Amino acid sequence: MDKKELEQTLVLIKPDALKNSLTGYVLSQLSQFHTGLRFAGAKIVCVSKLLAEEHYAEHRGKIFFPSLIDYIMGLIHYADEAWKRRVVAFVYHGPGTIQKIRDIAGPTNPHIAREQSPGCIRALGTVVPIKDASGNVIGERMDNLIHASATNSEAEREIKLWFKPNDIPPLMHDYPIEVSKDHYYSKEGKLYTTYEPDSICLIAPGDIAWKSDMDTLRLLSQGLPAPGSLEAVVAKYLINVEQVSH
Ligand code: RTP
Ligand code: MG
Repeated sequence: MDKKELEQTLVLIKPDALKNSLTGYVLSQLSQFHTGLRFAGAKIVCVSKLLAEEHYAEHRGKIFFPSLIDYIMGLIHYADEAWKRRVVAFVYHGPGTIQKIRDIAGPTNPHIAREQSPGCIRALGTVVPIKDASGNVIGERMDNLIHASATNSEAEREIKLWFKPNDIPPLMHDYPIEVSKDHYYSKEGKLYTTYEPDSICLIAPGDIAWKSDMDTLRLLSQGLPAPGSLEAVVAKYLINVEQVSH
């Protein structure tokens, strides 16, 4: 099959699925035998606030946003066991990947999932009321076990947010890469091209990065508007990095 007919999508197995030991079930629903899709990437991620807020940036400002961020960070399902706060992130690759996985995941709201698509993964989820400080219900949180990108452009943004090129086998790369000639450092939300005390090195000469990240860093370092945000690049490079002094 022409590689152009293939597409990739990001799947997250969320903390409620981990807590309920549904990882194996989800992976079996998405298996190559059932879907014809293949893994292109996999990692266990302790989700930082920065990564959570970048991933769900489109929902910023909505009433359920803070609860959604707590949920994806594992704060709800592992309140007292910080070390268990993880999601499992996958890139799936194959024909019609995005729609196939969205169909198996089912509707966003688990109540609707049960009504409209019994047997889908999200039919096993729950809806939890969100209350204000006085106990009034102000919204609802949907604990729906799995995330799956909804469109091609969403998949590209999300895969590049969660995965570096070297996390994916080179022959399965779907987006252009670039070898950096420069250093890029970050400290307290600022970008530097030379080392600053207590900064972290995002990219060094010789490192392979998504070309779009390199374009963003190059433009931002010159004080110019960029296609992406520094936060989205930093969030990825800080995945599973111990926050000692940054
Ligand atoms: P996802 O991104 O997690 O795969 O879910 P989705 O495309 O089906 O739905 P989306 O609109 O992208 O929403 C992302 C997540 O936010 C929560 N949500 N809550 N209370 C609400 O009205 C509401 N709407 C969305 C859900 O947890 C959803 O998965
Ligand atoms: Mg979505």
